[in-house]
Amino acid sequence: MTIRNYLPSAVLAAVVAASVFGGSRISAQRPLAASSLRAAVFVADSAKLYTEAQAEEGAKVWTATCVGCHETKDVTSADFKTKWVGRSLFELYEQIRTTMPDDGPGSLTRDQYLHSVVYILKLNGLPAGDTPLVADSAAMSALKFELPAPPSPVAP
Ligand code: HEC
Repeated sequence: MTIRNYLPSAVLAAVVAASVFGGSRISAQRPLAASSLRAAVFVADSAKLYTEAQAEEGAKVWTATCVGCHETKDVTSADFKTKWVGRSLFELYEQIRTTMPDDGPGSLTRDQYLHSVVYILKLNGLPAGDTPLVADSAAMSALKFELPAPPSPVAP
């Protein structure tokens, strides 16, 4: 076996290592400006931005506070998507925190607002993962609200 035969697997290993470390770096929610672009690219694919436990907390907030005025479609409709897809999670968080509930803006805790955002991600079909979303303005600003990519008809 010549050295040439080793090359493809070495390249593959490097790619796998890069995606593994790239992934855990994003999951770590480090608010590094330099990681923003990488975060955006990563998120556009299939990032797992929150945990199932956070989504369950978000469902409680939604049921206790939001359903008095909202139906699910208010945060999943085509209009909602047109307005919010591509914008940062921090923008959505701030919008909700400063205007909702309509009869008492800012009256919920930081975590309740965070979990509301998480629940909206879940309602829009984004998957849960192992790393919680953190209520950090820089980290959330680097994460974009992107819909899950439809399954590719062509194998990579
Ligand atoms: C008392 C009624 C009321 C409650 C309670 C309420 N909302 Fe709203 N919400 C509204 C109204 C009315 C609007 C539209 C107002 C506007 O667009 O300025 C709105 C708009 C929104 C929007 C913007 C939708 C868009 O198309 O951009 C979001 C997101 C939202 N609410 C989330 C929530 C969440 C999350 C909760 C619970 C924590 C909540 N709301 C609780 C009345 C309410």
